[in-house]
This record gives sequence, C-alpha cells and structure tokens, in this order.
Amino acid sequence: MMKKIVSGALLLSGCAIMMVAGCSTNAQNTGGGQALLLVAFGTTYEQALPAYENVEEVMRRRFPDRSLRWAYTSNMIRRILAERGDARDSPGQALKKLANQGFSDVAVQSLHVIPGYEYDELKAAVLAYEGRFEKLAFGAPLLNSHEDVEIIVDHILRNTPEREQGEALVLMGHGSHHAAGLLYVAFDALLREQDPLAFAGAVEGYPDLEFILAQCREAGVARVLLLPFMVVAGDHARNDMGGGGPESWDTVFRQNGIEARSVFRGLTELDGPAELFADHLEQALAAQAHN
Ligand code: CO
Repeated sequence: MMKKIVSGALLLSGCAIMMVAGCSTNAQNTGGGQALLLVAFGTTYEQALPAYENVEEVMRRRFPDRSLRWAYTSNMIRRILAERGDARDSPGQALKKLANQGFSDVAVQSLHVIPGYEYDELKAAVLAYEGRFEKLAFGAPLLNSHEDVEIIVDHILRNTPEREQGEALVLMGHGSHHAAGLLYVAFDALLREQDPLAFAGAVEGYPDLEFILAQCREAGVARVLLLPFMVVAGDHARNDMGGGGPESWDTVFRQNGIEARSVFRGLTELDGPAELFADHLEQALAAQAHN
C-alpha cells in the first residue's frame, strides 16, 4: 500500500513537470494503459515497408485504444538496422519497455505467416511476461487453421490484378523445416483446387522450385507471374524470386522455357491479410475475456 502511494506521488510530480508540454503519457503511466505490440520478422528493404505501414494502419483502425509498438524477431535484421542507426527492439526488449512504462493490458500480434520457429521463440518471450501485466493476449500468425488457408487462397486469387489471361500464378513463400512448414504444402494444394494454374512453392523448404517447375510443365504452362507469399517483399522476393540473378526463380523458369515476370508486393500491402491478422488478435482477446 505504502509503495503504491509513493510511486503514485512520483508519477504525479513527473506529470506536473511535463504539464508544460502537455502530459500525454499520463494515462499510460497510471496503470490503465493498453498497448498493442506488433511483431514481425523485420526487413532491411525500404521498398518493403509499405507492407508494415498498411498492417499498422489496419491495426490502428481495429484497435484504436491501444498504443502501438513494434518489435522485430530477426537478430540479423536488427543488427543491420542498428548499424544504420535505426535500432529496433526484440520482442523481449519491447515487452520490458511496456512493463516499465506501466502498461497493464498488452496484446501481442505475431506478423509471421506460419507458427514456425520464429513464432515459437516469440511465444516463449511472451510467456516470460505472463504475470507482469494484468492482461496479456497473443494473436496467432496468418495461417493457423484450414480456414485461414482458404481465406488467403481466395484473397490472393481475387486480388492479383497484374495477372494476365493464360498466365500461371506462382507464389514464393519462405518455407520451414518446422512441422508447421507443412502449411505451405496445404496452401499449394488448396490453391490448385481453386485454380489449376496457381502454384505455391517455398524458397527454403517444401514445395521446392523443382516440384513447382514439374507441376507447371505438367500443366503446360508457358508464362508465369511470380508473386511473393511473404508479409514483406524484401530480400528473398527481390533476389531469390525475381531480379534475374543466376539462381533466382525467374531465371530458372526462363531457362526451362517458361516466360516469367515478377510483382514485388508483400502480403499485408493489401488489406485482406492485414485484416486476418487483426481477426486473430480479436480472437485472442475474446478468448482472454472468457477466462
Ligand atoms: Co530466409
């Protein structure tokens, strides 16, 4: 009790000093603060940032009462950005700051495609903060159920206006050797069920390029439109999918007699996938309310 009064008095005096400039952090510091922490893999590509900007805009619209924060899970990306003077928080660092700033109701949303290794690590970081906040919710990644796969298949087939008649659509996902990496196989299968000329492979996993090429040949494909199946169109999209490098997918397709062109657009540059992330957070918050 005593401790509470003391810290309250400290906050009040701090607030009084800040009053001159407008005490905007007052609500956060008095313990009622709600925050939303968005956690992505991260990117060093400025051209990829519209995907993060759009998902942020959708989240602000869907969760207007929450103060928004970001964290990147990739150590490598954070190191490169820090060298450029653009330091970013890891999930653990961001959660620590939120705890220190007195937030009591924290929602964390994974912006990963599958619940793979990055997601597992994030989950561990979030669980370490259980008990530090009055409320702590954790939203699932993009593909977390059969229904999610169907929603995204449908969304992509309806929202790729660049695709021309007779052109096959080839998506490049990241892939993973985690069991959840099998979601990419399910995604490719459900995609083809809806469209015999739509394929989804992975740059670091299965279905691999060899498999997708064989499928395209079997279907008699002459032209493909390549599109990233990743939240951002960053390094993998621009160097491993398109870009015309010696081992990039567009080059390999051409070497196999199939015309290839690329569109560099991350998933959350469009509202559909961004809204699905928001739906997952809403589900996590609703589940918390029933506890
Ligand atoms: Co990678």
